[in-house]
Amino acid sequence: MIKKCLFPAAGYGTRFLPATKSMPKEMMPIVNKPLIEFGVDEALEAGMTGMCIVTGRGKHSLSDHFDINYELEHQISGTPKEDKLQDIRAIMEQASFTYIRQRQMKGLGHAILTGQQLIGDEAFAVVLADDLCVKDGAEQGVLSQMVALYEKHKCSIVAVEEVPENETHKYGVIKGSLIEDNLYRVDDMVEKPEPGTAPSNMAIIGRYILTPDIFEILKNTAPGKGGEIQITDALLEQAQKGRVLAYKFKGKRFDCGSVPGFIEATNYVYENLYRE
Ligand code: G1P
Repeated sequence: MIKKCLFPAAGYGTRFLPATKSMPKEMMPIVNKPLIEFGVDEALEAGMTGMCIVTGRGKHSLSDHFDINYELEHQISGTPKEDKLQDIRAIMEQASFTYIRQRQMKGLGHAILTGQQLIGDEAFAVVLADDLCVKDGAEQGVLSQMVALYEKHKCSIVAVEEVPENETHKYGVIKGSLIEDNLYRVDDMVEKPEPGTAPSNMAIIGRYILTPDIFEILKNTAPGKGGEIQITDALLEQAQKGRVLAYKFKGKRFDCGSVPGFIEATNYVYENLYRE
């Protein structure tokens, strides 16, 4: 069973400046719910109750969000407005939240390694909150789909989606062999390949299940693309032993780290998921 989900959330969110000057990008709301809360909902649905958040300087509002706000709650107690807190209260009852600070921004691999103290020696999920995933007609969220696969295969799994060839340079890209419907054994993977050099158009999106040996690998992973420690490079080491699967998930994903993706997600949520 996968019980813990790691949320790397120490990044600067420079693409959304000035909004992210003092507000973490993970707190940017899609209509009325912050991005991170969508990720937590998805993890809870998949049976995870330990939310492990890697934060950085100036990210206090993340931990405040998943805590009681006495003044506010006292003020609206007994009024219809209290309903608006129903979902977040339910989350706080079901999940526990732990935090660790990443002192230096040395890449996603480094952020995940920073989370080792919170995860320990067990398989875990990773959610990058700026990739917002919705079911869009699928029966389950992406993490639930991945957990079911983990239970069968017991190895690391990355979520992938096909992207246009002129966008592969924005992602980790895999090369895989199809082993069953929508599931590939990863033979090779490259972080943000130069245009025209990608091994396929199957891009990794921000959902991972990782086996805990990834931490030892990350400790020895040299800085890669952009001078940062990349999870893609660490995963390649597992892949070379046949220990990484790529799953073409059911559902829809929005790149909320980009302005067009953020707007698209906002419209989608307003039209399909938001309730007054
Ligand atoms: C990270 C990963 C990349 C992955 C992407 C998904 O990149 O390094 O492999 O494809 O997330 O969103 P970032 O978007 O943080 O630059």
